[in-house]
Amino acid sequence: MKVLLTSFKFKYIFTCIFITFIISCLISIAPISIEECKCNNIDKIDLHEQNVNRVASKHHKHHLAILVPFRDRFEELLMFAPHMKKFLDKQDIDYHIFILNQIDRYRFNRASLINVGFLEIKQDFDYIAMHDIDLLPMNDELQYFYPENGPLHISSPELHPRYHYPTFIGGILLINRKHFLQVNGMSNKYWGWGLEDDEFYVRLKEAGLNITRPPNLLTGIQGTFKHNHNRNHRKRDMVKCFNQREVTRKRDRQTGLHNVSYKIENSINATIASTPMTILNISLMCDEFITPWCQCDTNNVTKDKKTNDKKIKR
Ligand SMILES: *[C@@H]1O[C@H](CO)[C@@H](O)[C@H](O)[C@H]1NC(C)=O
Ligand SMILES: *[C@@H]1O[C@H](CO)[C@@H](O)[C@H](O)[C@H]1NC(C)=O
Ligand SMILES: *[C@@H]1O[C@H](CO)[C@@H](O)[C@H](O)[C@H]1NC(C)=O
Ligand SMILES: *[C@@H]1O[C@H](CO)[C@@H](O)[C@H](O)[C@H]1NC(C)=O
Ligand SMILES: *[C@@H]1O[C@H](CO)[C@@H](O)[C@H](O)[C@H]1NC(C)=O
Repeated sequence: MKVLLTSFKFKYIFTCIFITFIISCLISIAPISIEECKCNNIDKIDLHEQNVNRVASKHHKHHLAILVPFRDRFEELLMFAPHMKKFLDKQDIDYHIFILNQIDRYRFNRASLINVGFLEIKQDFDYIAMHDIDLLPMNDELQYFYPENGPLHISSPELHPRYHYPTFIGGILLINRKHFLQVNGMSNKYWGWGLEDDEFYVRLKEAGLNITRPPNLLTGIQGTFKHNHNRNHRKRDMVKCFNQREVTRKRDRQTGLHNVSYKIENSINATIASTPMTILNISLMCDEFITPWCQCDTNNVTKDKKTNDKKIKR
Protein backbone atom coordinates (compact mmCIF):
# COMPACT_ATOMS: atom_id res chain seq x y z
CA MET A 1 0.00 0.00 0.00
CA LYS A 2 2.82 2.30 0.95
CA VAL A 3 4.67 1.40 -2.25
CA LEU A 4 1.53 1.93 -4.31
CA LEU A 5 0.96 5.30 -2.69
CA THR A 6 4.56 6.34 -3.30
CA SER A 7 4.41 5.29 -6.95
CA PHE A 8 1.09 7.15 -7.37
CA LYS A 9 2.61 10.24 -5.71
CA PHE A 10 5.65 9.87 -7.92
CA LYS A 11 3.54 9.54 -11.08
CA TYR A 12 1.45 12.52 -10.03
CA ILE A 13 4.50 14.65 -9.31
CA PHE A 14 6.19 13.53 -12.54
CA THR A 15 3.11 14.38 -14.59
CA CYS A 16 2.89 17.74 -12.91
CA ILE A 17 6.52 18.48 -13.64
CA PHE A 18 6.12 17.32 -17.24
CA ILE A 19 3.03 19.46 -17.84
CA THR A 20 4.67 22.46 -16.17
CA PHE A 21 7.72 21.91 -18.37
CA ILE A 22 5.64 21.80 -21.55
CA ILE A 23 3.61 24.85 -20.60
CA SER A 24 6.62 26.85 -19.56
CA CYS A 25 8.31 25.83 -22.80
CA LEU A 26 5.36 27.07 -24.82
CA ILE A 27 5.19 30.29 -22.82
CA SER A 28 8.90 30.91 -23.06
CA ILE A 29 9.09 30.25 -26.81
CA ALA A 30 6.08 32.33 -27.74
CA PRO A 31 7.12 35.76 -26.39
CA ILE A 32 10.62 35.45 -27.81
CA SER A 33 9.33 35.00 -31.31
CA ILE A 34 6.91 37.95 -30.89
CA GLU A 35 9.66 40.11 -29.44
CA GLU A 36 12.02 39.31 -32.27
CA CYS A 37 9.39 40.17 -34.77
CA LYS A 38 8.74 43.55 -33.07
CA CYS A 39 12.45 44.26 -32.88
CA ASN A 40 12.90 43.65 -36.57
CA ASN A 41 10.02 45.95 -37.41
CA ILE A 42 11.37 48.72 -35.20
CA ASP A 43 14.78 48.36 -36.80
CA LYS A 44 13.28 48.57 -40.23
CA ILE A 45 11.19 51.64 -39.39
CA ASP A 46 14.20 53.33 -37.80
CA LEU A 47 16.39 52.77 -40.82
CA HIS A 48 13.67 53.92 -43.13
CA GLU A 49 13.13 57.12 -41.15
CA GLN A 50 16.84 57.82 -41.04
CA ASN A 51 17.03 57.53 -44.81
CA VAL A 52 14.08 59.83 -45.29
CA ASN A 53 15.63 62.37 -42.90
CA ARG A 54 18.95 62.15 -44.66
CA VAL A 55 17.36 62.95 -48.00
CA ALA A 56 15.25 65.76 -46.53
CA SER A 57 18.19 67.35 -44.71
CA LYS A 58 20.55 67.21 -47.67
CA HIS A 59 20.60 71.00 -47.87
CA HIS A 60 19.68 71.70 -44.26
CA LYS A 61 23.07 70.74 -42.91
CA HIS A 62 24.29 74.06 -44.34
CA HIS A 63 23.19 77.47 -43.12
CA LEU A 64 23.09 80.45 -45.47
CA ALA A 65 23.45 84.03 -44.22
CA ILE A 66 22.18 86.53 -46.76
CA LEU A 67 24.26 89.65 -46.18
CA VAL A 68 22.66 92.81 -47.57
CA PRO A 69 24.70 96.04 -47.41
CA PHE A 70 22.23 98.80 -46.71
CA ARG A 71 21.71 102.52 -46.23
CA ASP A 72 18.53 104.55 -46.68
CA ARG A 73 16.81 102.13 -49.02
CA PHE A 74 13.67 101.32 -47.15
CA GLU A 75 11.40 101.15 -50.22
CA GLU A 76 13.81 98.68 -51.81
CA LEU A 77 13.84 96.59 -48.63
CA LEU A 78 10.04 96.46 -48.75
CA MET A 79 10.29 94.77 -52.15
CA PHE A 80 13.40 92.68 -51.44
CA ALA A 81 12.20 90.99 -48.24
CA PRO A 82 8.97 89.32 -49.40
CA HIS A 83 10.47 88.52 -52.81
CA MET A 84 13.44 86.66 -51.32
CA LYS A 85 11.24 84.76 -48.89
CA LYS A 86 8.96 83.57 -51.67
CA PHE A 87 11.92 82.73 -53.90
CA LEU A 88 14.03 80.86 -51.34
CA ASP A 89 11.25 79.02 -49.54
CA LYS A 90 10.79 77.02 -52.76
CA GLN A 91 14.40 75.85 -52.61
CA ASP A 92 14.51 73.99 -49.29
CA ILE A 93 17.38 76.13 -48.02
CA ASP A 94 18.10 77.04 -44.42
CA TYR A 95 18.73 80.81 -44.57
CA HIS A 96 18.46 84.03 -42.62
CA ILE A 97 18.57 87.61 -43.92
CA PHE A 98 20.88 90.18 -42.33
CA ILE A 99 20.48 93.85 -43.20
CA LEU A 100 23.86 95.54 -42.73
CA ASN A 101 22.83 99.10 -42.03
CA GLN A 102 25.70 101.59 -42.16
CA ILE A 103 24.87 104.40 -39.71
CA ASP A 104 28.20 106.27 -39.39
CA ARG A 105 28.97 109.57 -41.15
CA TYR A 106 31.40 108.09 -43.69
CA ARG A 107 30.74 107.26 -47.31
CA PHE A 108 29.04 103.93 -48.03
CA ASN A 109 31.45 100.98 -47.79
CA ARG A 110 29.83 97.84 -49.17
CA ALA A 111 32.88 95.60 -48.73
CA SER A 112 33.52 96.55 -45.10
CA LEU A 113 29.86 95.96 -44.30
CA ILE A 114 30.15 92.45 -45.75
CA ASN A 115 33.28 91.83 -43.66
CA VAL A 116 31.38 92.96 -40.55
CA GLY A 117 28.34 90.83 -41.39
CA PHE A 118 30.57 87.80 -41.87
CA LEU A 119 32.36 88.29 -38.54
CA GLU A 120 29.03 88.61 -36.75
CA ILE A 121 27.48 85.45 -38.20
CA LYS A 122 30.40 83.08 -38.84
CA GLN A 123 29.76 80.92 -35.78
CA ASP A 124 26.27 79.95 -36.93
CA PHE A 125 26.38 80.03 -40.72
CA ASP A 126 28.70 78.19 -43.08
CA TYR A 127 28.10 80.18 -46.25
CA ILE A 128 27.11 83.68 -47.20
CA ALA A 129 25.39 85.41 -50.09
CA MET A 130 26.68 88.93 -50.70
CA HIS A 131 23.47 90.35 -52.00
CA ASP A 132 22.57 93.67 -53.59
CA ILE A 133 19.20 94.81 -52.32
CA ASP A 134 18.08 96.05 -55.73
CA LEU A 135 18.69 92.81 -57.64
CA LEU A 136 15.83 90.32 -57.42
CA PRO A 137 16.26 86.79 -58.82
CA MET A 138 13.32 85.83 -61.03
CA ASN A 139 14.30 82.43 -62.47
CA ASP A 140 13.79 79.46 -60.12
CA GLU A 141 16.76 77.70 -61.69
CA LEU A 142 19.02 80.14 -59.83
CA GLN A 143 19.77 77.90 -56.87
CA TYR A 144 21.35 79.23 -53.70
CA PHE A 145 22.91 75.90 -52.67
CA TYR A 146 26.11 75.49 -50.67
CA PRO A 147 29.10 76.42 -52.89
CA GLU A 148 31.37 73.53 -51.97
CA ASN A 149 34.04 73.87 -54.65
CA GLY A 150 34.38 77.62 -55.01
CA PRO A 151 32.34 80.82 -55.14
CA LEU A 152 29.08 80.73 -57.07
CA HIS A 153 28.31 83.92 -58.95
CA ILE A 154 24.53 83.97 -59.28
CA SER A 155 24.29 87.26 -61.23
CA SER A 156 26.68 86.26 -64.00
CA PRO A 157 27.65 88.75 -66.72
CA GLU A 158 25.48 86.84 -69.18
CA LEU A 159 22.43 87.34 -66.96
CA HIS A 160 22.92 90.60 -65.08
CA PRO A 161 20.77 93.41 -66.52
CA ARG A 162 23.64 95.91 -66.60
CA TYR A 163 27.18 94.49 -66.20
CA HIS A 164 28.57 92.18 -68.83
CA TYR A 165 32.36 92.16 -68.50
CA PRO A 166 33.76 88.66 -67.99
CA THR A 167 35.44 89.29 -64.62
CA PHE A 168 32.31 90.85 -63.08
CA ILE A 169 31.39 89.15 -59.78
CA GLY A 170 29.15 91.82 -58.22
CA GLY A 171 25.43 91.69 -57.60
CA ILE A 172 24.92 88.31 -55.94
CA LEU A 173 27.84 86.06 -54.97
CA LEU A 174 27.75 82.94 -52.80
CA ILE A 175 30.91 81.85 -51.00
CA ASN A 176 31.51 79.38 -48.19
CA ARG A 177 33.09 80.29 -44.87
CA LYS A 178 36.37 78.51 -45.57
CA HIS A 179 37.00 80.34 -48.83
CA PHE A 180 36.02 83.75 -47.46
CA LEU A 181 38.49 83.27 -44.60
CA GLN A 182 41.12 82.00 -47.01
CA VAL A 183 41.16 85.28 -49.01
CA ASN A 184 40.96 87.46 -45.86
CA GLY A 185 37.51 88.72 -46.86
CA MET A 186 37.22 91.95 -48.78
CA SER A 187 39.28 95.14 -48.85
CA ASN A 188 38.25 97.92 -46.46
CA LYS A 189 39.57 100.70 -48.73
CA TYR A 190 36.50 101.11 -50.93
CA TRP A 191 34.52 104.07 -49.60
CA GLY A 192 31.99 105.27 -52.14
CA TRP A 193 30.55 103.37 -55.07
CA GLY A 194 32.31 100.70 -57.11
CA LEU A 195 35.41 98.53 -57.71
CA GLU A 196 35.36 96.60 -54.42
CA ASP A 197 33.95 93.57 -56.23
CA ASP A 198 36.65 93.78 -58.90
CA GLU A 199 39.32 93.79 -56.20
CA PHE A 200 37.62 90.77 -54.62
CA TYR A 201 37.78 89.00 -57.98
CA VAL A 202 41.58 89.36 -57.92
CA ARG A 203 41.68 87.91 -54.38
CA LEU A 204 39.72 84.86 -55.49
CA LYS A 205 41.88 84.36 -58.59
CA GLU A 206 45.11 84.66 -56.61
CA ALA A 207 43.84 82.06 -54.15
CA GLY A 208 43.22 79.72 -57.11
CA LEU A 209 39.49 79.49 -56.40
CA ASN A 210 37.27 78.56 -59.31
CA ILE A 211 34.23 80.76 -59.76
CA THR A 212 31.19 78.95 -61.09
CA ARG A 213 28.08 80.48 -62.61
CA PRO A 214 24.58 79.22 -63.31
CA PRO A 215 24.48 76.95 -66.37
CA ASN A 216 22.77 78.24 -69.50
CA LEU A 217 19.49 79.81 -68.49
CA LEU A 218 16.98 80.68 -71.16
CA THR A 219 15.72 83.84 -69.47
CA GLY A 220 18.78 85.94 -70.48
CA ILE A 221 19.63 89.51 -69.59
CA GLN A 222 16.03 90.71 -69.69
CA GLY A 223 14.22 88.07 -67.67
CA THR A 224 16.59 86.54 -65.10
CA PHE A 225 16.64 89.43 -62.62
CA LYS A 226 14.55 92.41 -61.79
CA HIS A 227 16.86 95.40 -61.30
CA ASN A 228 15.01 97.58 -58.89
CA HIS A 229 17.23 100.62 -59.22
CA ASN A 230 16.26 104.09 -60.29
CA ARG A 231 19.46 105.88 -61.29
CA ASN A 232 17.91 109.32 -61.34
CA HIS A 233 16.28 108.93 -57.97
CA ARG A 234 19.32 107.34 -56.36
CA LYS A 235 22.55 109.03 -57.40
CA ARG A 236 25.57 106.81 -56.91
CA ASP A 237 28.45 108.21 -54.88
CA MET A 238 31.08 108.09 -57.63
CA VAL A 239 33.19 110.98 -56.38
CA LYS A 240 36.93 110.36 -56.09
CA CYS A 241 39.12 112.34 -53.73
CA PHE A 242 42.72 112.34 -52.59
CA ASN A 243 44.56 109.45 -54.25
CA GLN A 244 41.52 107.17 -54.15
CA ARG A 245 41.56 106.57 -57.89
CA GLU A 246 45.11 105.19 -57.92
CA VAL A 247 44.86 103.20 -54.70
CA THR A 248 41.54 101.54 -55.46
CA ARG A 249 42.78 100.26 -58.80
CA LYS A 250 45.41 98.11 -57.12
CA ARG A 251 45.05 94.83 -55.31
CA ASP A 252 44.94 95.64 -51.57
CA ARG A 253 47.32 93.47 -49.56
CA GLN A 254 46.98 95.59 -46.44
CA THR A 255 43.38 95.41 -45.25
CA GLY A 256 40.70 92.77 -45.10
CA LEU A 257 38.56 90.69 -42.80
CA HIS A 258 41.29 90.58 -40.12
CA ASN A 259 41.19 94.31 -39.45
CA VAL A 260 37.86 95.81 -40.37
CA SER A 261 37.25 98.34 -37.64
CA TYR A 262 33.64 98.75 -36.48
CA LYS A 263 31.07 98.81 -33.73
CA ILE A 264 27.61 97.23 -33.69
CA GLU A 265 25.52 100.04 -32.24
CA ASN A 266 22.41 97.89 -31.90
CA SER A 267 20.52 95.11 -33.62
CA ILE A 268 16.95 93.99 -33.78
CA ASN A 269 15.11 90.97 -35.08
CA ALA A 270 12.37 92.34 -37.28
CA THR A 271 9.73 90.97 -39.58
CA ILE A 272 9.15 92.96 -42.73
CA ALA A 273 6.35 91.87 -45.05
CA SER A 274 6.19 88.59 -43.10
CA THR A 275 9.90 87.98 -43.70
CA PRO A 276 12.01 87.50 -40.57
CA MET A 277 15.39 89.23 -40.60
CA THR A 278 18.04 90.76 -38.38
CA ILE A 279 19.00 94.40 -38.79
CA LEU A 280 22.50 95.30 -37.64
CA ASN A 281 23.23 99.00 -37.13
CA ILE A 282 26.92 99.29 -37.94
CA SER A 283 29.34 102.14 -37.30
CA LEU A 284 32.41 101.73 -39.46
CA MET A 285 35.64 103.36 -38.38
CA CYS A 286 37.97 104.96 -40.87
CA ASP A 287 41.73 105.20 -40.61
CA GLU A 288 42.11 108.57 -42.33
CA PHE A 289 45.84 108.06 -42.84
CA ILE A 290 45.26 104.97 -44.97
CA THR A 291 41.98 106.00 -46.64
CA PRO A 292 41.39 109.76 -46.35
CA TRP A 293 38.68 109.42 -49.03
CA CYS A 294 36.20 107.95 -46.54
CA GLN A 295 35.01 111.56 -46.45
CA CYS A 296 35.28 113.61 -49.61
CA ASP A 297 35.36 117.29 -49.03
CA THR A 298 34.43 119.25 -52.19
CA ASN A 299 37.88 120.88 -51.95
CA ASN A 300 39.64 117.54 -52.21
CA VAL A 301 37.68 116.04 -55.08
CA THR A 302 39.88 115.00 -57.99
CA LYS A 303 38.69 115.57 -61.54
CA ASP A 304 37.06 112.57 -63.15
CA LYS A 305 39.21 111.17 -65.92
CA LYS A 306 37.80 108.67 -68.38
CA THR A 307 39.57 105.51 -67.32
CA ASN A 308 38.87 101.85 -67.57
CA ASP A 309 37.79 101.43 -63.97
CA LYS A 310 37.18 97.71 -64.33
CA LYS A 311 40.86 96.81 -64.25
CA ILE A 312 42.52 96.12 -60.92
CA LYS A 313 46.30 95.87 -61.11
CA ARG A 314 47.69 92.91 -59.20
C1 LIG B 1 39.86 74.62 -60.32
O1 LIG B 1 39.61 73.95 -61.53
C2 LIG B 1 40.74 73.31 -62.08
C3 LIG B 1 40.38 72.76 -63.44
O2 LIG B 1 39.13 72.16 -63.42
C4 LIG B 1 41.21 72.23 -61.11
O3 LIG B 1 42.37 71.60 -61.60
C5 LIG B 1 41.53 72.87 -59.77
O4 LIG B 1 41.86 71.88 -58.82
C6 LIG B 1 40.34 73.66 -59.26
N1 LIG B 1 40.72 74.39 -58.05
C7 LIG B 1 40.10 74.27 -56.90
C8 LIG B 1 40.63 75.08 -55.77
O5 LIG B 1 39.13 73.55 -56.74
C1 LIG C 1 45.20 96.51 -41.27
O1 LIG C 1 46.39 95.77 -41.11
C2 LIG C 1 47.47 96.29 -41.85
C3 LIG C 1 48.64 95.35 -41.67
O2 LIG C 1 48.23 94.04 -41.92
C4 LIG C 1 47.80 97.69 -41.37
O3 LIG C 1 48.82 98.22 -42.18
C5 LIG C 1 46.56 98.56 -41.48
O4 LIG C 1 46.82 99.81 -40.90
C6 LIG C 1 45.39 97.92 -40.78
N1 LIG C 1 44.23 98.73 -41.05
C7 LIG C 1 43.31 98.99 -40.14
C8 LIG C 1 42.14 99.80 -40.58
O5 LIG C 1 43.38 98.58 -39.00
C1 LIG D 1 17.69 87.62 -32.70
O1 LIG D 1 17.40 86.25 -32.82
C2 LIG D 1 18.53 85.41 -32.64
C3 LIG D 1 18.12 83.99 -32.91
O2 LIG D 1 16.90 83.70 -32.34
C4 LIG D 1 19.10 85.61 -31.25
O3 LIG D 1 20.23 84.79 -31.08
C5 LIG D 1 19.47 87.05 -31.08
O4 LIG D 1 19.95 87.29 -29.77
C6 LIG D 1 18.30 87.97 -31.36
N1 LIG D 1 18.77 89.34 -31.34
C7 LIG D 1 18.11 90.33 -30.78
C8 LIG D 1 18.73 91.68 -30.85
O5 LIG D 1 17.03 90.16 -30.23
C1 LIG E 1 19.18 101.41 -35.75
O1 LIG E 1 18.21 100.44 -36.05
C2 LIG E 1 16.91 100.63 -35.58
C3 LIG E 1 16.06 99.59 -36.19
O2 LIG E 1 16.74 98.40 -36.33
C4 LIG E 1 16.40 102.02 -35.85
O3 LIG E 1 15.14 102.21 -35.26
C5 LIG E 1 17.39 103.05 -35.38
O4 LIG E 1 16.94 104.34 -35.62
C6 LIG E 1 18.69 102.78 -36.09
N1 LIG E 1 19.67 103.84 -35.97
C7 LIG E 1 20.43 104.11 -34.93
C8 LIG E 1 21.36 105.27 -35.08
O5 LIG E 1 20.43 103.46 -33.91
C1 LIG F 1 40.96 118.97 -48.20
O1 LIG F 1 40.10 120.08 -47.97
C2 LIG F 1 40.25 120.70 -46.69
C3 LIG F 1 39.26 121.83 -46.58
O2 LIG F 1 37.99 121.38 -46.70
C4 LIG F 1 41.67 121.22 -46.52
O3 LIG F 1 41.83 121.74 -45.20
C5 LIG F 1 42.65 120.10 -46.74
O4 LIG F 1 43.97 120.61 -46.71
C6 LIG F 1 42.42 119.44 -48.11
N1 LIG F 1 43.33 118.30 -48.25
C7 LIG F 1 43.99 118.06 -49.35
C8 LIG F 1 44.93 116.89 -49.32
O5 LIG F 1 43.87 118.71 -50.36
